Amino acid sequence: MASSRSTHTPASAGGTTLPSRSGRSTGGEAGDAARAAAQAPVMACSHLSLNVNGMPVSTEIEPRLLLVQLLRERLHLTGTHVGCDTGQCGACTVHMNGRAVKSCTLLALQAQGAEVTTIEGIAPAGGGLHPMQAAFHEHHGLQCGFCTPGMVMNAIDLVRTQPNLTEADVRSGLDGNLCRCTGYHNIVKAVLAGAGAMKGQS
Ligand code: FES
Ligand code: FES
Repeated sequence: MASSRSTHTPASAGGTTLPSRSGRSTGGEAGDAARAAAQAPVMACSHLSLNVNGMPVSTEIEPRLLLVQLLRERLHLTGTHVGCDTGQCGACTVHMNGRAVKSCTLLALQAQGAEVTTIEGIAPAGGGLHPMQAAFHEHHGLQCGFCTPGMVMNAIDLVRTQPNLTEADVRSGLDGNLCRCTGYHNIVKAVLAGAGAMKGQS
């Protein structure tokens, strides 16, 4: 969690190459494109259709709208946080087509046709917490909680892609997520515990 890191190979949706979970040192080319588009003059609206937390969303948006803005400002899913807006902190991490991405580095239109899951969408249908959320709670993996949704979303993807996680894997895997409170020690313990719980469920 202390150095830059590339975590995933790029994913794609709707024919658009996406910078999936990236290290914190850069938002990547798509992040630059997203920020450049955000500064552009007002443009004609485009139609966007996607699923968010299993629900269909169909709306007209300006092409410059960022995915994180769509989630927070249009869909009111404010569990996805904005800590830096430049691809550095990981607070905005969500899942797109099953992989963790920093939603401040993507245009909403890059999620055309995609399945997007936010922190609000990971709890079991019957209620309660996702095992990774429960592990953060049990192992005191948070203080103010601002980074926690992004940490949890990234950690879930990490467990799915590396089922036999070591402590070193966790520290490396979360180096694109910054926490200003905890010193990371309990976050690592929580992710390892959450990984065990997720394996036990599967
Ligand atoms: S990485 Fe997106 S808000 Fe910081
Ligand atoms: S718990 Fe406060 S920023 Fe991580």
